[in-house]
Amino acid sequence: MPLVPAYIEALRPYVAGMSAEEARRRYNLPLIDKLASNENPLGPSPVAVEAMQRSLGGLNLYPTGGQLLRQRLAELYELKVENVITGSGSEGIMANIIRTFLLDDDEVLTTENAFIGFRVLAQSRGVAYRTVPYREWRYDLAALAEAITEKTKIIYLANPNNPTGTIFTRHEFDDFYRHVPERVLIILDEAYFEYAKDHPKYPDSMHYRYDNVITLRTFSKIYGLAGIRIGYGFAHERLIGNLMKVKLPFEPSAVAEAAGIAALEDREFLHRSLELNARGLRLYQQAFSELGLTVVVSEANFVMIPMASAEQAGRVAEGLLERGTIVRPLTAFGLPHCLRISTGTAEASERCVAHMREVMGKEATCPDPAKSR
Ligand SMILES: Cc1ncc(COP(=O)(O)O)c(C=O)c1O
Repeated sequence: MPLVPAYIEALRPYVAGMSAEEARRRYNLPLIDKLASNENPLGPSPVAVEAMQRSLGGLNLYPTGGQLLRQRLAELYELKVENVITGSGSEGIMANIIRTFLLDDDEVLTTENAFIGFRVLAQSRGVAYRTVPYREWRYDLAALAEAITEKTKIIYLANPNNPTGTIFTRHEFDDFYRHVPERVLIILDEAYFEYAKDHPKYPDSMHYRYDNVITLRTFSKIYGLAGIRIGYGFAHERLIGNLMKVKLPFEPSAVAEAAGIAALEDREFLHRSLELNARGLRLYQQAFSELGLTVVVSEANFVMIPMASAEQAGRVAEGLLERGTIVRPLTAFGLPHCLRISTGTAEASERCVAHMREVMGKEATCPDPAKSR
């Protein structure tokens, strides 16, 4: 059998949150709420769905390589088309960045327990993957700036961050940016941008453009289009030009491109999604705090809850699952004592809270077997 490099053998692949079908099979439950993958509980943007249906008749033709969506985004953001790239989700673009920029001796730098999608991509390239710890569950930008070496090629920052939901502020980013050499590429992953954009301290990266920063955004979250795979990025034209050489020529698909173009017009859906999410976050913050849980303040569409121990996190996740709520245990992120819970429909979020009350009630009456060991 052909040999693969040792770093591929050693790679832990991305494991997605449990699907509703799997939970149904395991527990034979009539009603399942999947709150494990930060998806939009309202479904896909209806305007995008109509556009995708209209695009089906043209599927005998090759797609444009994202050209039409690039043009639309350039108009909206008052940029040149050459400053815009589209791809199969923001992860598709991240994969191209890894392929385009990294040499064997380069290092990537990010926070500990960063978004796993990025970790897997970087490690699949076999380069050194260096991290610094969080500070109060936020990126420690000062420590990251200090950790830059002459080998650092890419710094990955997700803002808001997954899995913590926290943001770094404009002030913190400005301070950090002054310490980053021009030869270092900063990936600013703004997958949850729309949820955070109205926060007064949020640094919307489109308000200041730097030559060594690429902004990544996605239709997977607020527009409810995770299943079709469409994302986009903004950067200096030289940077985008090099990515365009490496990207698969017919990515994204014609259907995905049609969805993206249409979704941008669906203001009503965006508004409804934001309102629902804000209510969900308020509910979780209040109800979980009342149960004595720590809820990390989130600017995204999920909350992270650090529990007393990995054992307790496991039991609570299992207890919620048995009752029909799938949440995300964060073991794969390197945070086995933490759970991440996405906001759902109003009913699903309420059910999640009710299930958590039951499960935490049991936790209070049964002594923690891990502690009595
Ligand atoms: C921080 C972050 N970036 C990127 C992604 C992936 O986005 P896409 O579906 O556009 O590839 C996610 C999805 O969970 C995410 O949390």
